[in-house]
Amino acid sequence: MIYTITLNPAIDRTMWVERIRDDEPNRIVREENYAGGKSIDVSKVLKNLGVESTALGFIGGFAGMELEGRLLNEGIGTDFIRVSGETRTNIIIHEISTGRQLSFYAKGPDIRPHELVMLIEQIEGLRDPEIVTIGGSLPPGLSPAVYRRIVTEAKKCEHNGCKAKVFLDVDGLSLRSSIEAAPDVIKPNIYELSELVGRELREIDEVLAAAREINRKGVEVVLVSMGPRGIVLVSAHEEYHAIPPQVKVENTVGAGDSSVAGFIYGMVNGKSLAECLIYAVAAGTATTLTEGTALANMEDFERLIPQITLRTLKTS
Ligand SMILES: Nc1ncnc2c1ncn2[C@@H]1O[C@H](COP(=O)(O)OP(=O)(O)OP(=O)(O)O)[C@@H](O)[C@H]1O
Ligand SMILES: [Mg+2]
Repeated sequence: MIYTITLNPAIDRTMWVERIRDDEPNRIVREENYAGGKSIDVSKVLKNLGVESTALGFIGGFAGMELEGRLLNEGIGTDFIRVSGETRTNIIIHEISTGRQLSFYAKGPDIRPHELVMLIEQIEGLRDPEIVTIGGSLPPGLSPAVYRRIVTEAKKCEHNGCKAKVFLDVDGLSLRSSIEAAPDVIKPNIYELSELVGRELREIDEVLAAAREINRKGVEVVLVSMGPRGIVLVSAHEEYHAIPPQVKVENTVGAGDSSVAGFIYGMVNGKSLAECLIYAVAAGTATTLTEGTALANMEDFERLIPQITLRTLKTS
């Protein structure tokens, strides 16, 4: 089973108004609500690609029930820890006449120490974990070191006698403090990797050097995403750069999460690192073709795969 962990999921309440006015009530002409969160997006893309996963993390209150119900409606399995606080609701307002978007992101519920213990115990006892993927921001009350603990526990899980593969897609201090726990795969974007190594990275050679540093610290596969420039993969014996075709981009929200899902899709299908990388780029770019918060679909994903250019930088 593939498990996706989101510590601070959200209901994204998205509204469309013709023009935002402050002198009279604004009429909402369209409204849509989604279950949001980085690893939840991974679950959604996996679902679109025909791969089952179970979403884990914290939910609370009515918003938490709504979030779980929405995922179940989409056919995504869940096993959340229920917390005493209320799952956050983010507000996103689209102004149709100008194309402007206003986003208001909530903090999320305080996570109590015993609630964290429940999650750690759940991870220790995961049944049949093949891949565990962790992503997204931290809820209040938890320190960035929590990710290190989660990675450490997840790495102990076994699947058919093999250790679970642990993916991590977090940034800032959370990423920095987790590296020593040696997640198997990380997918920072170029800015997140720049922050991690403490210098601005621009050229591919600079990205490669930084990714190798992180690989030598014990992260088996470092994926560095660079928007339209694709993804660089660095491992001990193989290095590649995969580049997407030029496309008409609708919306890049969730592109990085989709790349994580694409890579996982390759792994569960027993593909090589190079093929997994191609799938990661195809899934990320497939998401940029969709409007609003919609994510990669199978048709675009399959159509894009042969259009990805793979440059082999090193093989052993
Ligand atoms: N403008 C674009 N054109 C084509 N493909 C794109 C574009 N932007 C993103 N992608 C695809 O999505 C992948 C991941 O994008 P990106 O590097 O922006 O991730 P990210 O910054 O982690 O995104 P997120 O906001 O989801 O965390 C890219 O490697 C590429 O395949
Ligand atoms: Mg990202």
